[in-house]
Amino acid sequence: MLKTGRGAAAPPFIVMDVISAANARQAALPAGAPHIIRMEVGQPGTGAPAGAVAAVQRALAGGASLGYTEALGIGSLRARIAGHYGAWYDADVAASRVAVTVGASGAFPLAFLAAFDPGDRVAMAAPFYPPYVNILTALGIVPVILQAGIETRYQPNVAMLEALDPRPDGLIVASPCNPAGTMLHPAELAGIADWCHRNGVRLISDEIYHGLNYGAPLATAAALSPSAIVVNSFSKYFSMTGWRVGWMVLPEDLVRPVECLAQNMFISAPNIAQVCAEAAFACAEELDANVARYRRSRDLLLAKLPGAGFSRLSPSEGAFYLYADVSERTNDSREFCARMLAEAGVAASPGVDFDRERGHHFVRFSYCGPEADMAEAARRLARW
Ligand SMILES: Cc1ncc(COP(=O)(O)O)c(C=O)c1O
Repeated sequence: MLKTGRGAAAPPFIVMDVISAANARQAALPAGAPHIIRMEVGQPGTGAPAGAVAAVQRALAGGASLGYTEALGIGSLRARIAGHYGAWYDADVAASRVAVTVGASGAFPLAFLAAFDPGDRVAMAAPFYPPYVNILTALGIVPVILQAGIETRYQPNVAMLEALDPRPDGLIVASPCNPAGTMLHPAELAGIADWCHRNGVRLISDEIYHGLNYGAPLATAAALSPSAIVVNSFSKYFSMTGWRVGWMVLPEDLVRPVECLAQNMFISAPNIAQVCAEAAFACAEELDANVARYRRSRDLLLAKLPGAGFSRLSPSEGAFYLYADVSERTNDSREFCARMLAEAGVAASPGVDFDRERGHHFVRFSYCGPEADMAEAARRLARW
């Protein structure tokens, strides 16, 4: 038997298995039967905004060669991303600190390899986005889980960090977060960023759901700490999941290391996706209409789900997720979700992906699907 590496033991991302089950159920339905409502998926149902698609069509029609780009991305896109920090956060970010990546997913291994060594410890609150733990573990870095509850909106705080002995080498935060949709408010993020900087803890701030916040104020770690790594993406607000393009704002000391790693690991993010991304910045009207739709769906579900028996919901302020504590109904959220799919025709994700200890008591609902479907889901769940 040949040896396999640490990475060969990476667990699956269970949401993907739920998606397969929902697809199979939909395919097996008789013609005319009510369709399965998809609340398990974490991606916008909309495509890239029309203005961005038009820019891609122009580039293709104009015979763009679409070779590799520089490893840190097309210069005009990096400048546009830097300008975004002025426009959204009134923050000064030099284009030289921006690295364009293959989605936020492509940013994680670059950030982790540039900042940490095998054996280093990186903290994060549970529930968390599962690939953080799975990628860290595959790289030999040790995840340290902080159990966060509804009292802190499922977010970490400075007291939890102070209590860690030994101090971790890094901390990952996400605001708004997946799976709870909850946020770190600006003063809370500032406190965490300051604590990390003073204590030599490398902060990685996953800001992929920025723009999908419904009234709550946004802060970026790029404006709060010179040592933080900010990760963002065109997948969510910009509605471009399959184009696979994201970015990082890097601290000065990590720009060249990330450039060298990216040259070796990816060469560049896809050229045509970068063209699309740059044009997407000019599509705020279309993108903001998506945000308004998510907000209406969130408001509807927060109003209706408690009456359907889901009374312990996360106070979602962003992203397109609600995390429901279903401990009064089940000890096995996988089985609960399988029954909900079979009996109510509503697909949602069991919490076990996001929290290995407590997740069997939680379900994640994603409300990025069509608005009419979200209203129908509330009706079906109430009947169920
Ligand atoms: C919190 C979080 N970070 C990162 C990602 C990865 O996104 P992408 O690689 O599409 O940019 C996701 C995807 O759902 C996510 O929820």
